[in-house]
Amino acid sequence: MPEILAATAVAHPNVALIKYWGKRPGPGNLPATGSLSIVLGGLATTTTVTFDPALAADEVSVNGAADADTAQRVSACLDELRGLAGNPARARVDSRNDFPTGAGLASSASGFAALVVAGAGALGLRLPEARLADLARRGSGSAPRSLYGGFALLRNAGDGTTCEPVADPADWPLEVVVAVTTRGPKPVGSRNGMAQSELTSPYYPAWIATHPADLDAGLAAVRGRDFAALAELAEHNCLKMHAVMMTTRPPLIYWSPGTLAALQAVRELRAGGVPVFFTIDAGPQVKAVCLPGAADRVAAALAATSGVIDVLRSPLGGAARLLSPGA
Ligand code: PMV
Repeated sequence: MPEILAATAVAHPNVALIKYWGKRPGPGNLPATGSLSIVLGGLATTTTVTFDPALAADEVSVNGAADADTAQRVSACLDELRGLAGNPARARVDSRNDFPTGAGLASSASGFAALVVAGAGALGLRLPEARLADLARRGSGSAPRSLYGGFALLRNAGDGTTCEPVADPADWPLEVVVAVTTRGPKPVGSRNGMAQSELTSPYYPAWIATHPADLDAGLAAVRGRDFAALAELAEHNCLKMHAVMMTTRPPLIYWSPGTLAALQAVRELRAGGVPVFFTIDAGPQVKAVCLPGAADRVAAALAATSGVIDVLRSPLGGAARLLSPGA
């Protein structure tokens, strides 16, 4: 009787404070720049991978459905794991997000982090973190950061990347308030959007040239727990990325009217002395990052902002983890 192997893993989405947008040339889905992120412990992806020799092909479902591009990237990750384990069995992948999927809440990051942890767990592979991070990155450039808890740094190193934790949630327990402004999936995915920006935005070279200084300063602000410095820098880095997106041809305008209203609400709060800053990824949601104690006021202000349809709150979270090894 051929063996069925299954495992379930949980991973949290992450939000970059210093972002990446663009790839290095060549294979491996290598980002053009480093990035620095926080993990949102209040949102989760739960993924079960079941290797079943009776299957003729991988079956991938994300919240009950999956597009061909995601399924193909999942299969590519599973192929690597199958190769390492010497087990050719195809797999059923059932991945569920308890938050909006494909809408700028980094569901691909938590999705691929949970996938590699569950897949390796099911196959009984004990891979070093660096190997898991490499596998996850092939699926989504931001996924290695979701393998770690708290603050994570993803850097270019030689012809690959390294990813390391920088601080635990307990070291600097920031809170995040997400202003949800639309629920649909984004019109252009990150991978295609980045490729288009690199080809067509006149600001892309400036984004790449100024990025290392942003990353170094962001890292210093996190290490020094300097919220004011991090606030100024993270907002600048975010708007610089969106300037590249907006000047891409055709333009990548991920914002909705509610995005701009929420951004202004956060700026007004900070001008009024509330320790909060905004960041926005490839989608219309605004993430308001708060010092402990500020989240109540921020959540109330964002909930009352025109165009904001929901407000999610999240503490920083922990690393991706296996729930049920073996089957
Ligand atoms: O590699 P992806 O598809 O997860 O792209 C991530 C792109 C941004 O979220 C906009 C930036 C980032 O560093 O997370």
